[in-house]
Amino acid sequence: MTTSVAGESRAQFSSKIGFILAAAGSAVGLGNIWGFPTQAASNGGGAFLLIYLFLVFLLGYPLLVAELTIGRYGQANPVKASGKIMPNGKAAVGRSFAVVGLITASCILSFYAILAGWLMGFFFSPLLEIVGLHDAAQWLESFSTGRNLLLTVLFMVATIYVVKNGVAEGIERWSTRLMPVLVVLFLVLIGYILTQPGAMDGLKMFLIPDFSEVNSGMIHSAMGQAFFSLSLGACTMMVYGSYLRKDADLPKTAAQVALIDTGIAFIAGLLILPAMFVAQNNGVQIFDDAGNLESSGDLVFGVLPAMFDTMGGAGLLVSIVFFALMVVAALTSSISLLEVPVSTASEELKMSREKSSWVIGGLITLLSVAIIFNFGWMFDAVIIVSTEYAQPILGLIFALLVGWVWRRDTVLTELREGSAEIESSLFWKVWPWYVRVVCPAMMIFVFFA
Ligand code: PHE
Repeated sequence: MTTSVAGESRAQFSSKIGFILAAAGSAVGLGNIWGFPTQAASNGGGAFLLIYLFLVFLLGYPLLVAELTIGRYGQANPVKASGKIMPNGKAAVGRSFAVVGLITASCILSFYAILAGWLMGFFFSPLLEIVGLHDAAQWLESFSTGRNLLLTVLFMVATIYVVKNGVAEGIERWSTRLMPVLVVLFLVLIGYILTQPGAMDGLKMFLIPDFSEVNSGMIHSAMGQAFFSLSLGACTMMVYGSYLRKDADLPKTAAQVALIDTGIAFIAGLLILPAMFVAQNNGVQIFDDAGNLESSGDLVFGVLPAMFDTMGGAGLLVSIVFFALMVVAALTSSISLLEVPVSTASEELKMSREKSSWVIGGLITLLSVAIIFNFGWMFDAVIIVSTEYAQPILGLIFALLVGWVWRRDTVLTELREGSAEIESSLFWKVWPWYVRVVCPAMMIFVFFA
């Protein structure tokens, strides 16, 4: 569906629910299903959960509204939209921040595609095992450059395929197809795991807080996790906001997206922590010799597959469902990451969407290939720079722009489009000074504490 703005037609999500599923699809990803549960497990379980919830709603949510509002006001790619909120003559400043955001999104996608590739390998491997291709199945689960290259490229091609088809026909269509699949796969798995011996120990660890684990490092991790999970500071929510209908209520829509994202992270905790203890019950080691939990990568690619192996025939099936879930979650996030540079290239350089999807997607694939060949130092470096530095710093900058630079009456007019009475609401009494003062102060505090 398209609207006509000043003679130019711009793509739009065809419905509010389509938007919510796409934005929640971006938010719900490996961060929820893998990052959140494993971080909770190694950081005091329930205590991490509480601090995470606090940060999502008191820090992430207001910033999510800010990014969505910039995008919807701009009705353009993030670079142009960020320029539009600046005062006369200062557009270049806003544009440069968004360019950093665009590079951040591309870097996140480059490592995300590698991770998703491995997950695809673990998804296909039991299928090959079933048809008797034992060696190929083993190869897919082994760590080799050839396997990493093949699977990463496959995942990127799937991402490009969705994005090249556009907002309504590609992103929205696939998000609305895949998100329900994700929920069903989840429920099936939880139903199964919670009936296995050992599961209750995991539930206890997840739900009963151990406050002795609370420290500044853990709060910092929870903040990073909240930013990553809500897809903030990478212009993804901005670009999706630009395709959102003007009659959508921004604070409410953002709240729905944040709730779905957090709900799924919570449910993932109900799955992964019990699964770890089921694994332990079945004789798989989950703590190293020093008594620390295995690293998050070892948990997903070592502990869980080893547990599936102990379950016989049912284990094969459970494994297929589990990795399918991960791949689906990754795909609805990767398309939002690719959309950031693709929308900018096609609008600013007047390229067709099809061409810019292949060109930009191809360049990001090349970056992934570079990481694969220099895995030892580059993989962690790209993750740390893009998610631990770039995302929170850009989130802070967007908060400062919305709080201090963007004219308050323009912000109000934009929010009013979707909720006529907003001016007299509690939201409007709190949010403007909250993003102006409280969010930046909280972030700076956590960053330097
Ligand atoms: N939110 C996604 C996840 O949890 C990752 C992501 C980060 C997507 C930043 C877009 C932008 O996996």
